[in-house]
Amino acid sequence: DRRRTLAVIGGDGIGPEVVAEGLKVLEAVTSPDAFELVHYDLGATRWQRTGEVLPDSVLDELTRVDGILLGAVGAAPGAKDVPSGLLERGLLLRLRFAFDHYVNLRPSRLYPGVPTPLADEVVAGKEVDFVVVREGTEGLYCGNGGVVRAGTPNEIATEVSVNTALGVERVVRDAFARAARRRNKITLVHKHNVLVNAGGLWRRVFEQVAAEFPDVATDYLHVDAATIFLATDPARFDVIVTDNLFGDILTDLAAAVTGGIGLAASGNINPSGAYPSMFEPVHGSAPDIAGKGVADPTATILSVGLLLDHLGLGEEAARVEKAVLADIAARQGGERRSTSAVGDAIASTV
Ligand code: NAD
Ligand code: IPM
Ligand code: MN
Repeated sequence: DRRRTLAVIGGDGIGPEVVAEGLKVLEAVTSPDAFELVHYDLGATRWQRTGEVLPDSVLDELTRVDGILLGAVGAAPGAKDVPSGLLERGLLLRLRFAFDHYVNLRPSRLYPGVPTPLADEVVAGKEVDFVVVREGTEGLYCGNGGVVRAGTPNEIATEVSVNTALGVERVVRDAFARAARRRNKITLVHKHNVLVNAGGLWRRVFEQVAAEFPDVATDYLHVDAATIFLATDPARFDVIVTDNLFGDILTDLAAAVTGGIGLAASGNINPSGAYPSMFEPVHGSAPDIAGKGVADPTATILSVGLLLDHLGLGEEAARVEKAVLADIAARQGGERRSTSAVGDAIASTV
């Protein structure tokens, strides 16, 4: 087996804390020489020190790695010393766009014994196991728009959502293919009753691709109604395909109903393999608990599982998921463990 290069970006807040545990598990599950780790010092502190967010030279280096593991970037939402969006746009979104991560894969599973805010009758005897395929390179995240008459009473601020036929089709096709490998059910989530332009495109493309997958049952929900069903009947979902912003919002909710944001993993995937894919927890830098050693590293560890799977190490990926499952089962009723205690426990059984 050839050695793979993994770029590691701990980032800000709890990012480096949870990434350390992800690497612990990676090292425990793979042979000693399987990965060469290259650590990158990026994030708020780097910017404050040097004024750099993501130097072109680093972006160039990252183009040649086999995969990227990211913790989180971003300052506290109320912070005054780091402009909001500077790191999110300049680093995270820049990587997603530069490396054409059009499949933002966000699986949600309600593991046995995990505490959930869902009502008993919603989950009793049901399997909650779905994946959100969030478009990762278009929509409202393109940064199109602007401000006129800034600061005046007549200020107008616009954000324009970009949806291309090619961009929608490739992610919808990927989602259908995933549904065909899972339980043959796919739900398009949009809001075509209001967003008639973009919604119309998504709907048309969805129906065209559906014709190629006759065994996959299709469904459609407006995004507002989708939030109802995520809380009242999440077992109805298998694959959800949606645009960039709806997918962002739905996946925090999906995480919350399936055991919390501390368990939610994600992959920013470039299916063609032309660029490295990037794996990260769904959560952010959690400034409210940073430095306390209490962040749950499970989402990052599960993201390492997704990374292994993506790199063709399916057996190792399965072992990670199994070890996480066992650890979660053992958590019940126990006292809250430190970040490193969770990582140690999973690494020791993997
Ligand atoms: P957040 O996900 O960082 O935190 C939301 C809440 O969830 C907080 O109460 C936090 O303590 C809790 N939480 C998050 N991860 C946890 C974990 N592993 N274990 C236990 N609790 C956890 O969202 P936010 O507060 O909106 O954002 C904070 C910063 O992170 C912002 O700057 C935001 O832009 C950035 N952000 C970055 C990413 C990323 O890098 N991928 C993702 C989301 C948010
Ligand atoms: C996520 C985050 C990012 C997003 C932000 C930090 C740009 O919330 O990964 O879910 O909105 O995609
Ligand atoms: Mn988010």
